[in-house]
Amino acid sequence: MQSIHILVGTTSGNTEFLAGELEIALQAEGHTTTFHDLPAIHEIPTEGLWLLCVATHGAGEYAESIVQFMEDLAQQQPNLAAVRYALVAIGDSSYDTYCQAGLDADQLLSQLGATRVADILTIDMMLDPAPETTATKWLENWQDHRGA
Ligand SMILES: Cc1cc2nc3c(=O)[nH]c(=O)nc-3n(C[C@H](O)[C@H](O)[C@H](O)COP(=O)(O)O)c2cc1C
Repeated sequence: MQSIHILVGTTSGNTEFLAGELEIALQAEGHTTTFHDLPAIHEIPTEGLWLLCVATHGAGEYAESIVQFMEDLAQQQPNLAAVRYALVAIGDSSYDTYCQAGLDADQLLSQLGATRVADILTIDMMLDPAPETTATKWLENWQDHRGA
């Protein structure tokens, strides 16, 4: 059983809903979760397992709720060597900057020393008829890694 911090990057709520579904699935497996709908750098320990769900807005920019957190990470450059993470990037493939915020978050976390434990899941809100199902299936696929 793990303690998992869920970090949400949303502007209009879709990603918060999706992250909530993932939280339910994780809790059903017996994990403890902490849900950060407005992630704050001083509230999230720089160790353990993070699950980031990050929507792209603007022209490839972070969704509102996670802008400050990402800026703080970039400025303060904490050592994230003890952090493992998985990442769901939410976007719309009609944009040239498809899921760019999620990809930028991945790059920043890895620069700071964190280790990604699963392939990034990109979710196309334009084309995917059941994003929550896609995400929960992906979650099952990296179940084994969560203990690693
Ligand atoms: C103004 C606006 C700009 C957007 N820009 C992008 C973008 O650059 N790249 C992308 O992949 N998706 C983009 N999207 C799609 C959003 O990521 C998608 O609507 C997503 O469901 C929003 O999630 P949220 O409700 O959690 O904020 C944009 C959506 C809006 C409304």
